[in-house]
Amino acid sequence: MRQHLRPPSDSYDDYLNMQLKRTIIKNDNQLKERTIYLVDKLAQFVNLNQAEILCVGCRNHAEIDYFYAKGVKKILGIDLMSKHSDILVMDMHQMTFPDNSFNVVYSSHSLEHAYDPQKVINEIKRICRPGGYVVIEVPIRYETTSADRIDFGGSEKLLSAFAPDVAQVLLAEDDTFTSKGTDVARAIFQIK
Ligand SMILES: C[S@@+](CC[C@H](N)C(=O)[O-])C[C@H]1O[C@@H](n2cnc3c(N)ncnc32)[C@H](O)[C@@H]1O
Repeated sequence: MRQHLRPPSDSYDDYLNMQLKRTIIKNDNQLKERTIYLVDKLAQFVNLNQAEILCVGCRNHAEIDYFYAKGVKKILGIDLMSKHSDILVMDMHQMTFPDNSFNVVYSSHSLEHAYDPQKVINEIKRICRPGGYVVIEVPIRYETTSADRIDFGGSEKLLSAFAPDVAQVLLAEDDTFTSKGTDVARAIFQIK
């Protein structure tokens, strides 16, 4: 895992402000190809009708709407801003949910924005029930910046960041699927 070197001015407040500003100026609410791909993959392993899902860093309602279209009944999102009652304003480093709150934690293109990735990973493991599913996509092999901070390098390294709490790996792949041609790593796994 390669982490962006923080300049001295890059305090935690600076980090949160930058992430928030970037999200505020992005008005795209379009359903993304990557969302369809990853949610459809998850649906091969999990009965989404019964799932209780958290979308970490969902930005807008597109992911949540797609989960609803796939039959999901219980779902929440978190992000640094929200225009919807089912997207809670919450920092992924300090989630306020009790332990074992969800049986699916879905995080698409948010973990690379972490200030402290291990802290976010620990939070994901804490709020995911034993036997629950973690679903992650991150860009890989790219030039990190103070906004896009972490390059996990590949799906194997992404999975190893969750060790030793990975019970079963259902999907681990590296791909150049995105329209921009950026490489991505994806993983779907069960937590011990
Ligand atoms: C690139 S968007 C991903 C949106 C969507 N999940 C997708 O796959 O298209 C990353 C989101 O993570 C959010 N984010 C960044 N840092 C965060 C933090 N510390 N806590 C919660 N959300 C954060 C940003 O505000 C942004 O909306």
